Amino acid sequence: MNLDEILLAFDRDLESITSDDELQNLRNNYLGKSGHLTTIMRVMRDLDPKERPIFGQKVNAAKQKIEQALGSMREKLEARKIERALKGTKSIDLSTPLREETGSLHPITIIEQKIIEIFKSMGFSIEDGNEVETEYNNFEAVNVPKDHPARDMQDTFFLDNGELLKTHTSASQNRIMRKYGAPCKVIFPGRCFRNEDVDASHDNTFFQVEGMMINENVSISNLIYFMKEMLSKVFGKDVDVRLRPGFFPFVEPGFELDCKCPYCDGKGCNVCKSTGWIELCPCGMIHPKVLEMGGIDTEKYQGFAFGLGLSRLVMMVYDIDDIRKLNSSDLKILKDFKIK
Ligand code: PHE
Repeated sequence: MNLDEILLAFDRDLESITSDDELQNLRNNYLGKSGHLTTIMRVMRDLDPKERPIFGQKVNAAKQKIEQALGSMREKLEARKIERALKGTKSIDLSTPLREETGSLHPITIIEQKIIEIFKSMGFSIEDGNEVETEYNNFEAVNVPKDHPARDMQDTFFLDNGELLKTHTSASQNRIMRKYGAPCKVIFPGRCFRNEDVDASHDNTFFQVEGMMINENVSISNLIYFMKEMLSKVFGKDVDVRLRPGFFPFVEPGFELDCKCPYCDGKGCNVCKSTGWIELCPCGMIHPKVLEMGGIDTEKYQGFAFGLGLSRLVMMVYDIDDIRKLNSSDLKILKDFKIK
């Protein structure tokens, strides 16, 4: 074979290569010790000395061509191997955006943080309360002495050591009065527990945000102002409120504050159960006995207190029909009201 024939033969042989071994054999056949190109170099000896360098260059060029062709065949074989490995597996499109599961804050946390920001902007301090409380703080210090019938309203989880799971955020009133003295403006959100029969609107665990303002000349109109302000900011529009008489031993007078249903503007809808109003926030002027027990001079100071039903507010904001969903650990349910 002359050089041109060798190259033609190589091209033909290369086409039929399907494996690494075959490729290696091909290399040996052409570039190996007794390969065609090595053999043909021997012809050089018989050539005219002038022609030798020209022939040498031709053989080298042919060698290079063969090397290159072998190199690209090796790459092709690699690519085919990967293709085969991926066959049967799901295709992967590396350019698709990542659809990773991300978590989000719980609706209770979102609204609680919103309320905190709103009250902060109105000059209130924020306090945390204990979940395990003494009977004194939960009841006596807010004017609910032993054997008072109001204790029945709040079925209590008692602990073996005589302490209890706080039944309302009012359990922190006494400690906070003693910490701040008068005047003060504080809100204290917290989780509360009651040994209740559980249904769509009652759970044994729920959230409240308690607020207290103590100063000279504080009146119920201050309370109405702050509640209206807070609700209007939460709902992003003007919200009307109304007061109805309510009884709690720790306030005198006591009220139930309702807010005009922000969804139907009082016309009546599912959310307000066609009443136009939503009961949201028991409140009142702090009973002088409670102030006294908190070390406040009742000659000089009065105050209001409210116990906003945070769980209820959250249900309203996010249109959640069952309070038990708020304490659920079921991701399917939580994703239903996932808010980014
Ligand atoms: N602590 C009361 C409750 O949970 C609510 C309340 C707070 C009422 C403050 C009046 C003043 O039922």
